[in-house]
Parts: sequence; C-alpha cells; structure tokens
Amino acid sequence: MKRLNKKVALITGAAQGLGAVYAKAMANEGARVVLSDILDCQPIVESIIENGGDAISQVCDVTDNTALNNLVKRSESEYGPIEILVNNAALFTDLRRKGFEKIKEDEWDKVMLVNVRGTFQATKAVVPSMRRCGRGKIINISSGTILGGVSHFLHYVTSKGAIMAMTRSLSRELGDDNICVNTIAPGLTESEGLYNHPDYSDVREWNRSLRVFQRDMLPEDLIGALLFLACPDSDFITGQMINIDGGRLHY
Ligand SMILES: NC(=O)c1ccc[n+]([C@@H]2O[C@H](COP(=O)([O-])OP(=O)(O)OC[C@H]3O[C@@H](n4cnc5c(N)ncnc54)[C@H](O)[C@@H]3O)[C@@H](O)[C@H]2O)c1
Repeated sequence: MKRLNKKVALITGAAQGLGAVYAKAMANEGARVVLSDILDCQPIVESIIENGGDAISQVCDVTDNTALNNLVKRSESEYGPIEILVNNAALFTDLRRKGFEKIKEDEWDKVMLVNVRGTFQATKAVVPSMRRCGRGKIINISSGTILGGVSHFLHYVTSKGAIMAMTRSLSRELGDDNICVNTIAPGLTESEGLYNHPDYSDVREWNRSLRVFQRDMLPEDLIGALLFLACPDSDFITGQMINIDGGRLHY
C-alpha cells in the first residue's frame, strides 16, 4: 500500500517551485492533496490528476484567516479532515539580497507577516481539522541559512529562524492531540523560481563547492524526508529539524 494512502494533505505555496513538487510527490504516494497559494494552482492539479492522483486547489493567502477557514471547510467537505499540513508558503524568490541597513521596515514587516505569521495562521486554521482526524503531521519549511547564517538576507533568515523556534514550542502543545510538528531545513535548492533568480548565479558555485556531494541540490532531494515526516514511520518524532543540504553543514 502507498505510504500516504487516502490521507488528506494541505500544502501552502503550492502553485510553483518546491510546493508544487511536494504536492506531486505526496499525490504519488496516494495522498488526497489540497494545493493553495496566492497564485493559481490549477495547472499543478491537472498534472496530478493526469497522473492518476487526487487533488483540488483553492487560492488562499496564508495571512487571511477567512480564506484559510474557507480552505479548511472545502478540504473537509471534499476529502474529510486534514491529517498533513506542509507550511511551505513564504516570501523567498520574491526577495533580493541586500545589506541589512538597506532593508526598509515595510519589507521587513512583510517578510515576517507571510513567513512567520502566515505559518502560525495556517497552523491555527488546520489544527482543529487534525483534532477531528485524531492525528496530524505538521511539516514547517525552514531553511539551512539559519544554521550558519548568511549575509545580505537578514529578514528572510530571521523569519526562518522563527519557524524552527515555532516548531519546537508548538510540538510541546500538540502532543496530547497526537500531532507531530517538525521542520525541514533545505539547503539552496534549484526550484524554478530560484533557477531564474538574478542572485542565484552568485551563490550557486559557492554552495556546490561546500557540499560533501558536489552537485546542485534539486527539489527531488527533499522528497524522502518530506514523505518520512508525513507518514507513520515518524510517529515518535516531534519538535525536530531535518537539515538537507548534501553535507554542506555539520552541526
Ligand atoms: N529553493 C530554496 O533554495 C529554498 C531553500 C530553503 C528553504 N526554502 C523554502 O522553501 C519554500 C519554497 O521555496 P521556493 O524555492 O519554491 O520559493 P517560491 O518563492 O517559488 O515559492 C513560494 C510560494 O509561496 C507563495 N506565496 C507567497 N506569499 C504567499 C501568501 N501570502 N499566501 C500563500 N502563498 C504565498 C508564492 O506564490 C510561491 O508560490 C519557501 O518556504 C522557502 O523559504 C527554499
């Protein structure tokens, strides 16, 4: 039997990039996948259905409680209670690297709003559904940048540090509900948005040279850990982070 057979999985930020790859991988493992984003996820839904998978999508901003509650309502009415939440939506490829003194306060606030508060809001909207399900798996997407720090990206790295802190603390509140809360920290990964990003060529070679496995990191490199954290094999693991970076950082 497939590892996520008929489990309902909600993925935020799934219209493109890593979120779309996660949605396809979970559908391949038998999950009923709910894709959401501020962008249209329908092309990804269609490709999942063409491959024999189950998926629906709805436009939803993770900073909008009404939209989140409607999304949960629709997921439950079409598929039943949500068991898996991947908090992937973030401002990432929309941002440019710059020295910290050049970051304006409104840009700082926007990054915190989407990356930190959005993760909190999506979690708050979905946990009641997990309680109805009787179990749950929350997978928060942080970043390897929080481990060693990187320059010229202070708002983003700070927001992703908060995701790890949120994961640890929230895991302690949700144990009695049989809900695991874990984090994946990807290294620099060639998502489609990053591949076309003007800052990517500056950091690509440098990152590759620091890895034990000296090649580019691909979205598929994240899938094993994602499925592990989503399926019952990881039922006694919570509050943890899996760093996936081809051995770049040892901590
Ligand atoms: N690609 C990498 O190297 C890398 C490394 C570490 C962590 N990450 C993290 O992985 C995730 C995906 O990265 P990606 O490379 O695919 O980036 P991306 O920028 O292509 O994807 C982010 C997605 O989030 C969506 N989004 C933005 N604001 C939103 C909002 N308010 N509500 C709902 N959706 C919103 C965007 O539309 C987009 O589809 C992000 O959390 C990113 O921080 C990426």
